[in-house]
Amino acid sequence: MSTVQLDLVERPFTERGSRLLVTAAPDGLRVARAEYETPLDATTELTALAVRDPDGRPVPVASATPSEVRFANGASLMFADPTTLVLSGRRAHASWRRPDGTARTLALTDCHVLTGPPGTWSEQTVRAAAEHRWQRWFAHLPPVRPDLAERARMAWWTLAVNLLPIAGREGLVPSKYGYLGVWNWDALFHAVALRHASPALARDQIMLLLDHQLPDGQLPDVVHEHGVLAETTDLPRSDLARLSEHVGRANGVLPSAEPVPVTKPPLAAWAVWKIHRTDPDLPFLAAVYPKLVRAHTWWFTASDPDGDGLPEYLHPYSSGLDDSPVWDHGPRAEPPDLNSYLILQADRLADIAHALGLPADAARWRARAAAHTELLLTRRWDGTRFRTLVGGAPVDVRTVLDLMPLLTGRLPAEVAGALERELRSARFWGEHPVPTVAFDDPAFDPDAMWRGPVWLNVNYLLIEGLRRSGFTATADELRLRTLAMVRDAGGLYEYWNPLTGARAPRATSGFGWSAALFVDLAADLPEPADDRLDAGTITP
Ligand code: GLC
Repeated sequence: MSTVQLDLVERPFTERGSRLLVTAAPDGLRVARAEYETPLDATTELTALAVRDPDGRPVPVASATPSEVRFANGASLMFADPTTLVLSGRRAHASWRRPDGTARTLALTDCHVLTGPPGTWSEQTVRAAAEHRWQRWFAHLPPVRPDLAERARMAWWTLAVNLLPIAGREGLVPSKYGYLGVWNWDALFHAVALRHASPALARDQIMLLLDHQLPDGQLPDVVHEHGVLAETTDLPRSDLARLSEHVGRANGVLPSAEPVPVTKPPLAAWAVWKIHRTDPDLPFLAAVYPKLVRAHTWWFTASDPDGDGLPEYLHPYSSGLDDSPVWDHGPRAEPPDLNSYLILQADRLADIAHALGLPADAARWRARAAAHTELLLTRRWDGTRFRTLVGGAPVDVRTVLDLMPLLTGRLPAEVAGALERELRSARFWGEHPVPTVAFDDPAFDPDAMWRGPVWLNVNYLLIEGLRRSGFTATADELRLRTLAMVRDAGGLYEYWNPLTGARAPRATSGFGWSAALFVDLAADLPEPADDRLDAGTITP
């Protein structure tokens, strides 16, 4: 079976549970530790690592795979455990430098410990253990079409190496390049894929988030090794600049010195229900249900400043779309996705309550989902589109979030039809759908994060929404185009240029939810129908 090739640039040599990253530089390999909000330069353990032949000439790397970096003369770099990198080989030398400038040269014997506590390791045992670990992990990769197999294996490797011990559990970080923590909605998308390999690990991602729920029900934005990010007085720098331009003109006000709560879109019950459908676990449902209920309620008690029953995001971070043009108009916004997620979540809470044998709760959640949909339609549908509000007033911005009400599966046919037509129009459809900002919006920028590029979580939610709203053919086409784009662009990037389908220049690589959702879409396992029909009537 073919294995994943590591290029030691986008795909470093690293391990599940390890913060050590081995990358290639012109003067040899470099070993650095990945840490929260810390550049790799500050955590470099050694540089210029080279294996040399008896004449002192550097020997090139012959192959780099998940289990070892093999040099042309048979020397190997391997993980003996998450903190221990060993270099093995015979009739060869190795040399490297420490950040304090000290250089070291060594005649290789069996296994030399490069990083980590001193210990004695045998090359054979270390290699056998590494190969066994990776075989076991890859055995859980769901089957995919042959043309998607290489990218799916790369994605599956990405998920494994992005797992790190965080806050007492094994958490999946978005990327070992720059995102060393467990971000709220990232964890939910990661759990969607992990349910295929290890439902227990998927449940752990949810628990990691729920363990850190605040007393008022809020879920934090990020859980990391030093604590949580749950409030801030900051705005992303780019937003601050744009906001100051708009102050006084639009509805924007500059943030006060008071900290604002920060979280991420409410999709936890949606992810929990997916895990449960793959691997039913009533004790888990019973443990998370009261927490999910409090998290859901928080939006109405703490994030609906005008009290109209349609919550708003109080900070760009909470929307997950930090630099979207929605935020050019002010720091408190209500794009149509938030209330769609809340409706979806109420339906999934109904499913969970039903599974737990709580029919009265289930009926109440179902009724809330119906009433919330009515409110969204009455207040935010202007006859042609759902509007984004900033500071309580509609703004002229067209983003993909306008189409998210499809996710509820509860829209009247003419409204759902209009959204599907909008998606298929020149505003949003192309060779590489879906741009996060409409092609004809003045703010559209194909390379700037949430200002145009394609993101896999958005496509995934839209595919699900199209299916739930009855547009199976469009859902299938979007799924196929999304898979083809990721297959052809070369890696599991953070986001892609919607005009070319290529990696956008500033997007990170080895990105968790791109890997997770690519595998889930590629596997295309039949999703069992939602339980809503057994649990009560739906409107419309
Ligand atoms: C960026 C994204 C946000 C995501 C986070 C971690 O801030 O905008 O949606 O949760 O990175 O991946």
